[in-house]
Amino acid sequence: MLRLEDLQVTRGRTEVLRGISLSLEAGEIAALVGANGAGKTTTLMTLSGLLPIAGGSARLTLDGRELDIARTAPDRLVAAGLVHCPEGRQVFARLTVEENLRLGAYLNRDDRRIRQLLDEAYALFPVLGERRDLSAGGLSGGEQMMLAVGRALMAEPKLLLLDEPSLGLAPQITERIFDTLAELNRERGVAMLIVEQNAMLALEIAHKGFVMEAGSIVLSGAGRELLEDASVVEAYLGGAG
Ligand SMILES: Nc1ncnc2c1ncn2[C@@H]1O[C@H](COP(=O)(O)OP(=O)(O)OP(=O)(O)O)[C@@H](O)[C@H]1O
Ligand SMILES: [Mg+2]
Repeated sequence: MLRLEDLQVTRGRTEVLRGISLSLEAGEIAALVGANGAGKTTTLMTLSGLLPIAGGSARLTLDGRELDIARTAPDRLVAAGLVHCPEGRQVFARLTVEENLRLGAYLNRDDRRIRQLLDEAYALFPVLGERRDLSAGGLSGGEQMMLAVGRALMAEPKLLLLDEPSLGLAPQITERIFDTLAELNRERGVAMLIVEQNAMLALEIAHKGFVMEAGSIVLSGAGRELLEDASVVEAYLGGAG
């Protein structure tokens, strides 16, 4: 579904991605973990078509069609099913919950389908339904995260890119969000690339994991394998956790 080969990205004068290679198959969850500044957000932004590619390649195969990310506009990537849930949630504070959700479906012209998708989002996150007419800026951090995930789902993703879904949230809320992500993967087959500081949590639900350091992937393996590897845990995942 997704194949990166020797992907290089430069920001300012810095070579931020120094040639990363990874692949993700349909229906899989991959976790991308690593220290601050390793290049995780840069990777997701590049995949969404928001940063230019300096070298190597990033290819996406959806519904049997291969797209070269370097040559595809961001809105076409969204239309094809690649949807980004950005770092820091980025909900529109002055718009209502429902208006935020509708923005996720901005490429969709089918009002009935949009209504269905709204109902699905409210079924998944009932609190969003209860607060549908309130402005998003008044939601708690956890509710805003649910809104950000809900908004991404409104675009009917086949591959969902999630940047730090746990950031700033209480463990209980984080766990609920990860349970929901695992359920979306199981029941709807949505593939995911999840960037997470809480590597333990992400690797728990991931089929595979990639550890990034200073713009390179230094380790990869099955999610469980990485979790069980004591040296990985010590070196990259913040001790015994
Ligand atoms: N606009 C920019 N211009 C120059 N360098 C940048 C720019 N944005 C990010 N960088 C640098 O790129 C590197 C990778 O940043 P990135 O945001 O991808 O890291 P990250 O792994 O997501 O970190 P974090 O865990 O803190 O979110 C950092 O060294 C950062 O300083
Ligand atoms: Mg980041």
